Amino acid sequence: MKTIAVLTSGGDAPGMNAAIRAVVRTACENGIKVYGVIRGYNGLINGDFIEMDLRSVSDIINRGGTILYSARSVEFATEEGMRKAIRTCQEWGIEGVVVIGGDGSFRGARDLSERGIPCVGIPGTIDNDIACCDYTIGYDTCLNTIMELVDRLRDTSESHDRCSVIEVMGRRAGYLALNAGIACGATSILIPEVSFDIEKHVIERMQKTQRTDKKHFIIIVAEGCGVNIEDLADEIEKKTGVETRPTILGHTQRGGYPTVKDRVMATRMGNYAVKLLMNNIGNRVVASKKEDVIDYDIFDALNMSKSIDMELYDIAHEVSI
Ligand code: F6P
Repeated sequence: MKTIAVLTSGGDAPGMNAAIRAVVRTACENGIKVYGVIRGYNGLINGDFIEMDLRSVSDIINRGGTILYSARSVEFATEEGMRKAIRTCQEWGIEGVVVIGGDGSFRGARDLSERGIPCVGIPGTIDNDIACCDYTIGYDTCLNTIMELVDRLRDTSESHDRCSVIEVMGRRAGYLALNAGIACGATSILIPEVSFDIEKHVIERMQKTQRTDKKHFIIIVAEGCGVNIEDLADEIEKKTGVETRPTILGHTQRGGYPTVKDRVMATRMGNYAVKLLMNNIGNRVVASKKEDVIDYDIFDALNMSKSIDMELYDIAHEVSI
């Protein structure tokens, strides 16, 4: 391949810039022209490209967000949008595309690959909800951010003998909630993968610890549970007598400078993706299994499933009491 493109799509994640940098530098070092696509698949449809060189990606390894901007493209999901994107790639001589994003972005990459534009996906999402991967770019930074924010809430909860009910991101997955909950010593952790009963999993657990003289509490709720945390806070306050405050951490969780792990993994994955394209291998997802970087067919990757570590879930509840 002589010319490739790189785009970021879906929700941004810290470490995406490190991946872009690795893609661009690997391509340049191997004599491949590389275009940065602006605003995900929308940019691919409209030819919104910038030619990138070694210096276009200077000073970004430490930055959160994505210098290429991101979007969830409605137009690309249509047959007409897809055809336009293919036409644009052909006009610009783009022979392969690196797509950094989540499952939705990979479905686009699979469809483009099937229509003759080889794509390689790199998993970038804070949710860690990509089935073929143990880990996704941005997850580690996000976990550390949540930990820091919840630690701050703990300070004030403790000072006032309060309960903090905290909603963390995770559209369909509880990986962030479970691991942050363990790291922050949450009394209860509610995640979408495990059915729960507020009375049993929150109220009774709090009452049990109240009897051991515990006075302040942290309850972590994954966004994907669909629980209204203001209502939950009211219920807790009524039933336990503990003054309770709800906090939605929201998009603060998605920003910030990436951790070492996210920078290193993003760099390895970006390099790996370009090497695949250099060997004319497309329709792949780069994945991390244990500490290795490997790749899968996109179609297979999208059909995989992964489940929450129930042992970890049980440990969390056994210890945080
Ligand atoms: O997929 C990542 C994520 O941050 C989810 O945790 C969250 O539900 C969603 O994106 C929020 O999307 P938006 O930024 O479009 O509101």
